[in-house]
Amino acid sequence: MSTDLTIEQLRTRAADHLMRARARTAALTDAVDEDDLVRQHSPLMSPLVWDLAHVGNQEELWLVRDVGRREPVRSDIDDLYDAFKHGRASRPSLPLLGPAEARSYVREVRDKVLDVLDAATLEGTPLVQDAFAFGMVVQHEQQHDETMLATHQLRAGAPVLDDSPPPQAKVRPSHEEVLVPAGEFTMGTSTEPWALDNERPAHPAYTDAFFIDTAPVTYGDFLHFVESGGYTQEQWWSPAGWQHVQEAGLAAPQFLTREGDHWMRRRFGVVERVREDEPVTHVCFYEAEAYAAWTGRRLPTEVEWEKAARWDPATGRSRRYPWGDEDPGPEHANLGQQHLRAAPVGAYPAGASPLGVHQLIGDVWEWTSSDFMPYPGFAVFPYAEYSAVFFGPEYKVLRGGSFGTDAVACRGTFRNWDFPIRRQIFAGFRCARDAGAEELG
Ligand SMILES: [Fe+2]
Repeated sequence: MSTDLTIEQLRTRAADHLMRARARTAALTDAVDEDDLVRQHSPLMSPLVWDLAHVGNQEELWLVRDVGRREPVRSDIDDLYDAFKHGRASRPSLPLLGPAEARSYVREVRDKVLDVLDAATLEGTPLVQDAFAFGMVVQHEQQHDETMLATHQLRAGAPVLDDSPPPQAKVRPSHEEVLVPAGEFTMGTSTEPWALDNERPAHPAYTDAFFIDTAPVTYGDFLHFVESGGYTQEQWWSPAGWQHVQEAGLAAPQFLTREGDHWMRRRFGVVERVREDEPVTHVCFYEAEAYAAWTGRRLPTEVEWEKAARWDPATGRSRRYPWGDEDPGPEHANLGQQHLRAAPVGAYPAGASPLGVHQLIGDVWEWTSSDFMPYPGFAVFPYAEYSAVFFGPEYKVLRGGSFGTDAVACRGTFRNWDFPIRRQIFAGFRCARDAGAEELG
């Protein structure tokens, strides 16, 4: 979004985003019956009804109470929906609001929030400047919508979500990898109005010359590794990865099974043949790292990923997105749960970066080799619980968003993080390698 909106335009924009997020939340929670709403579909996930009321509770805390300075709607339930107090595995045993109660709670909160938005000045303090707090709440809800989409993928039973096919491949990227020259570029942002604290501030970052894949690794590519015995060959795995692959008994990306001569995948309740040209999805960091090692390469660092995505060699500046500064449109990237899968490689030529790197935004989150750490000059804003408490080597950074990420929660600078063993998220990867002196001409 651009910063030169009038206050009234900003208000309308915030209200539109709030409405869009809520329509998605409603679609995800109305698609299943009450049993499915309160059941835990995996110990990794909350019951859908927890996510629903948690979204409303955070909205109440941040907008009704902090921004609006209004009376609490329901302070008695704050503890139940505090993600830090109760891990996902324990949430089903809490005295949660039932589906009807949760729905009426989030409706009541939203009515108050629309009043707060009407009355808010949207300038003066950093929390309301450019409607930041409203943007933060919108992104939080959309992030939970993506989490709920992952719960849908883990849910057993018949398909319930609308599934329209993604676009076909339009081009074949002309090279498998491109050279990114050594040098500094501007990483992160100080100007994107709804960027979260961990994306800030803009700062110079340096890389040596490296090669990066022009497309995410596909199922076809990855299954060569599987079929050549990669999961049983220690030499491709880091010590932690090797231990995990054995303990967890991993043998292929999640949701894949072998039937006769074919690999089949269960995808939101549909079992279908795996598409070879589709980016591999549902692999953990360790699987990504092992595949890269098997091909003689490595995962990109977070700095390398962002340079390949944003740096424009013609101007030397960093773009908001690979394709330029415009907000994502349907021609640029597979975002926003328009399709329930990643699109084949080559489906979004209009979204390529100046260096010719495709599908950096949308399709699948991409694992990087980097730990989730603060940028130089990082300042907590507005709450330490948003990202600061997660900084450290236990989390790896993922970039670029997936088909389940809404555009409002996806920027060239956006940083996601997760444990290296997680694979219920819509994550894949691409490979990189150092550029040898002889390749630099
Ligand atoms: Fe949350």
